[in-house]
Amino acid sequence: MSDTHFGFQTVGETQKAQRVRGVFDSVAAKYDVMNDLMSLGLHRLWKAYTVTVANLREGDRVLDIAGGTGDLARAFAKKVGARGTVLHTDINEAMLSRGRDRLLDEGLVLPTVICDAEGLPFPTASFDVVSVAFGLRNMTHKERALAEMNRVLRPGGRLLVLEFSKVAPPLEKAYDWYSFNVLPRIGGWVAGDADSYRYLAESIRMHPGQAELKAMMKSAGFGHVDVHNLTGGVVALHVGIKC
Ligand SMILES: C[S@@+](CC[C@H](N)C(=O)[O-])C[C@H]1O[C@@H](n2cnc3c(N)ncnc32)[C@H](O)[C@@H]1O
Repeated sequence: MSDTHFGFQTVGETQKAQRVRGVFDSVAAKYDVMNDLMSLGLHRLWKAYTVTVANLREGDRVLDIAGGTGDLARAFAKKVGARGTVLHTDINEAMLSRGRDRLLDEGLVLPTVICDAEGLPFPTASFDVVSVAFGLRNMTHKERALAEMNRVLRPGGRLLVLEFSKVAPPLEKAYDWYSFNVLPRIGGWVAGDADSYRYLAESIRMHPGQAELKAMMKSAGFGHVDVHNLTGGVVALHVGIKC
């Protein structure tokens, strides 16, 4: 088995998956409030933009991977209506059950599946749209996960990858200061876990930037990939078409 990275640390592949699980077990209860605080609410706009670009129609079949507490799944479910399907999935039980409870509280009953994006338990060509928001960065074999997302899409189907990316150079200094000084402090105060938010800042730096991720998606079989930079590249939405 080879080494990989967990933030800035070099770790074995099994250890990475365990430590990622530890991060999300630890933050699940405070995940939503932390998202609002850390991004000053911007994550809501990034997700709303993703839903607009997804351009879903009634009856569409959608797979939300790494769906966590269910923001995208909930918005997608409203678009596809009763004839459509949205599968809310994640590898982490704590995150997924929190999301399922939130959706149930709002009267939404969606199929919920615990699964690893690197080996999806769904037939080939079974979805119109696949989404993964802020999840790809945490996966050990990103190429394998992207290939699986391609496999389960029908020809002409779309993959939406919303993820932290490389910021525009003028923002770099301020963004680094915020990420490495402010984020772990907020994480410590609110979630009682500064380390998980240090991992967040580090994992963003280790994640492929816009052009590299676009190339990875093309290698995974997406014939056309568009990149939408949001908030100066703090986040990017990559949209891949399975041709
Ligand atoms: C930062 S949260 C994102 C949650 C949600 N999509 C959102 O945007 O709020 C990242 C999620 O990725 C999930 N994840 C990490 N590795 C995964 C894998 N290999 N397969 C599926 N989900 C994974 C984690 O369990 C976690 O819930």
